[in-house]
Amino acid sequence: MRLDVITIFPEYLEPLHVSLVGKARARGQLDVRVHDLRSWTHDRHHTVDDTPYGGGPGMVMKPEPWGAALDEVLGSGPGRPVLIVPTPSGRPFTQEQAVALAAEPWLVFAPARYEGIDRRVIEEYGERLDVRELSVGDYVLAGGEAPVLVMVEAIARLLPGVLGNADSHRDDSFAPGAMAELLEGPVYTKPPEWRGRPVPEVLSSGHHGRIARWRRDEALRRTSANRPDLIAGCDPAGFDKHDRAT
Ligand code: ADE
Repeated sequence: MRLDVITIFPEYLEPLHVSLVGKARARGQLDVRVHDLRSWTHDRHHTVDDTPYGGGPGMVMKPEPWGAALDEVLGSGPGRPVLIVPTPSGRPFTQEQAVALAAEPWLVFAPARYEGIDRRVIEEYGERLDVRELSVGDYVLAGGEAPVLVMVEAIARLLPGVLGNADSHRDDSFAPGAMAELLEGPVYTKPPEWRGRPVPEVLSSGHHGRIARWRRDEALRRTSANRPDLIAGCDPAGFDKHDRAT
């Protein structure tokens, strides 16, 4: 998969050299290219923003550098990428979105700073590309770079061969399947007792049926406590007769 990121803070994307994404790059599974938006400016100050039409606080990112940057990046690869614009005004970025985007050969990210990018850029490229404005949560960050890191990690770990164990994402919270719509329950490892706290006995029982039941109960308990909205949204047919309202 190829990923391009156009930003005024290329150094903010340095974590893409580390850990899972860094290893996927080193193995040639991901081709990540980070571009400095200011290299497509022509004035002495490398200006990328200006005051908003209609007044109001803050600055808006100018369309010309974005247009020049996107034209060049789009022309540098085969076919058409999906263009992702992180914004708190976008649709929610969900696991479902991550799964869909992981199937794409090429993604271009356009993280904004200030009050956002001049709307005409989104309109212009929306006529040629699949443009997705996506939000990583109901809070406002100072820019779209941290959301890019979040989305790239969520997408990259779904690529074939990137996670050591392909089963690792099967039971993820939000993964489609048996535990769909439930959050993952707690996990334990050795030692069997730590500071007087034993590991729940059932997990050492070797009884797969009891372990699966316990995990489901814990997932239900955690979901009811932390995300009652997910339980409310569950298909009632997905509950079995042993599921209790917790
Ligand atoms: N830019 C600023 N806040 C954001 C958010 N919550 N999601 C995506 N992009 C953003």
